[in-house]
Amino acid sequence: MCGIIGYIGKDNTVEVLLNGLYALEYRGYDSSGVAINIDNKISVIRSVGRVSKLEEEIKKLNIKDSIYGIAHTRWATNGEANINNAHPHKVGKVTLVHNGIIENANVLKRNLIKEGYQFNSDTDSEVIAAFLDYSLRDNSILDSIELLKRKLVGSYALGIIIDGSDELYALRKDSPLLIGIGNKGNFLASDITAIIKYTSDYILLDVGDVAILKNDSYEVYKENKKINKEILKSTSSNISNDKNGYSHHMLKEIMDEPQVISNLLDRYSNSDSWKELDLSEYKSIDIVACGSAMYAGLVGQVLLEEYAEIKTNVYAASEYRYKKKIYNDKTLVILISQSGETADTIAAMREVKKLGIDTLAIVNNSNSTIAREVDRKILTEAGVEIAVATTKAYVLQVCVLSLISYVTSYKKGLLKDKISYNDFYKLPDLVDLVIKNVDNYKEVISILSKSESCFFIGRGIDYAICMEGSLKLKEVSYIHSEAYQAGELKHGTISLIEKDIPVVAVITDKNLKEKTLSNLGEVESRGAKGIVITTEGLDDNDEHLKIVIKSTNRFLDSILVVCVLQLIAYYVALDRGCDIDKPRNLAKSVTVE
Ligand code: G6P
Repeated sequence: MCGIIGYIGKDNTVEVLLNGLYALEYRGYDSSGVAINIDNKISVIRSVGRVSKLEEEIKKLNIKDSIYGIAHTRWATNGEANINNAHPHKVGKVTLVHNGIIENANVLKRNLIKEGYQFNSDTDSEVIAAFLDYSLRDNSILDSIELLKRKLVGSYALGIIIDGSDELYALRKDSPLLIGIGNKGNFLASDITAIIKYTSDYILLDVGDVAILKNDSYEVYKENKKINKEILKSTSSNISNDKNGYSHHMLKEIMDEPQVISNLLDRYSNSDSWKELDLSEYKSIDIVACGSAMYAGLVGQVLLEEYAEIKTNVYAASEYRYKKKIYNDKTLVILISQSGETADTIAAMREVKKLGIDTLAIVNNSNSTIAREVDRKILTEAGVEIAVATTKAYVLQVCVLSLISYVTSYKKGLLKDKISYNDFYKLPDLVDLVIKNVDNYKEVISILSKSESCFFIGRGIDYAICMEGSLKLKEVSYIHSEAYQAGELKHGTISLIEKDIPVVAVITDKNLKEKTLSNLGEVESRGAKGIVITTEGLDDNDEHLKIVIKSTNRFLDSILVVCVLQLIAYYVALDRGCDIDKPRNLAKSVTVE
C-alpha cells in the first residue's frame, strides 16, 4: 500500500532512495518516483511500473548527487497508475510522498481550487501538498503541519520537503512510519527493511508526532513541543532481503518453513511458557483478520471448537467493524496479521478495545501498530516475508492456533487423543519431506497450469485448508479458482463443472473421507478431473490422481497439506511465467480500508 523513504546525509542520496524503494516494492509497484534537491532546486523524477524503470530513467538523466530527497513506490488507490498520479507530488513550495487515504480530499480540493490551486493528478496526496502550501503563506512550517493534521481526515504517513528549508519532515496517522538514525545521515521510511543496509537504529513515530530530520540531527515534536523518543535497534538477521540463491522470495520463504516452525516450537517447549497459549478462561472467541490470515483463522476455528471446546467465529475484519457485535462476559477477540498494519484489522482492534473486550494478536511484525496497541500478543517470528503471497507467516499463524488449541485443551483436561507436545516436533522434518517430495506433485502441477479454472473441495478443517490453497493458486498464477465446502458444490456452483476441469479434494479427516469422495464423484461424473490430496491411511482409493502425505495428527496434517498447496501454486505460476513475487494488482501490506 505504497512505500515511502526519505534521506538526508552524506551518502549518495539517489542510491539510498533507490535501495529503499527496492526493499519497499512489496508494498506496491504500480509506479514510483523520487524528489531530490539539486543545486537548491527540487527535481521530481517519476515513472510508471517497477522501480527498475525509475532507475533506468534516473540513469539516463546523469544527475548530480543530492543532499536530501524523498521517494515513493505506489499501489494505486485514488487515481489509476499513470505518471501524473505517481508520487512525489509538488505544489508550490511543498513536495511530498504519501501512504494512506485522505477521506475529505474532495472537500479540501474544492476549497483550494477556489483559492486558485490547479491540480495535475487524481490523487488525494496532491491535495495534501496544496493545503500545506496554502497554510505556509501565513504560518511557520511547524504551525502549518499542525494545521494540516487538524484538517486531514483519513490515514497518512508523509515525507515532506519544503522549498527553502534544508530539512525533511515526517508525520503519520495510522499508516506506518519510522525514522532511522545513521552515522552518515537520517532517514524516514515505511519500514526498517528500507534502511537496514545503512542503520539499525530507529524511532517509531506515534500518531501526532512530527519529525524534523537534518543530516546530523533530528527532532521529534508532539503538538509543537519537542519530545524524547526511545531509539530502538533492529536485529538484521530477521530482516534479510536476500533470496538465498532461490529464484523467488516465495520459494525461499517456503523453504524457511521447517526452521521457523522449529523456532516457534522451541519457544514453547517449557510448559511455563504455555500461560501465553492458554485461553481456557474464555467462553467464546471471535477471530478477525484479512486474506490468508483469516483463512488461518478458519483452521483455528475447527481446532479451538473441537479440542478446546470454545465457541469460535471467524470474520473478515472489513465486515467485523460494521456488524452488530454480541459478546458474553468472557469473549476474546483474536486479531491475526502478518504485517500488523492491515487497516481493517487495526480498525477492528481499536473498536473492540473501546468496547472493553480482551484482545490477543497473532502477529509477525513486532513493531507494528497491532503489536503495539493490542492487549496481549503472540509473535509468530517468521522473519521478514517479501513475497506478496504469504507462505511461512500463514503457516506459523496456523501453528500458533494449533498450539493454543492443544494447550487450552490440555489445561481444560479435554485432550483425549494421545498427543504430546513432543509430537509437534515432528512437524519441521515432515514439512521438509513435503518440500523434498515436490517431484510427486508434478502431474498435478502440469494439469493445473494448463487449466483456466479449477475448484478445491473439502469438509471441516479440510475446507479451511482449501480456502488458503485456492487463494494461493489464484493470486500467483491468475487461474480462476474457488474453494467450496464439498457438500455445498451441488447447490448451484456445480453448473460450472465442465469436461476436464480440475477439482482438488483435500481429505485429512477420516470421518469425512467417504462424504468428500462421494462429492468428488458427483463432479467427476460430470466430466471433472478429480485430484485427491490426502494422508497415508486414507489413500485407499485407486481411481484418482493422488498426492499422499505422511499422516501425523489433526493438529499437524493441515499444515502439511498447506505446504503442498503452496508448492503447487508456486510451480504452476512458474510454468505460466507469472511474476510470482509481485502478482498483478496486489500489495503485501494493505494499509487502506
Ligand atoms: C494482503 C496480502 C495477503 C495477506 C492479507 C492480510 O492481501 O496480499 O497475503 O494475507 O493482506 O495481511 P496481514 O498483514 O494482515 O496478514
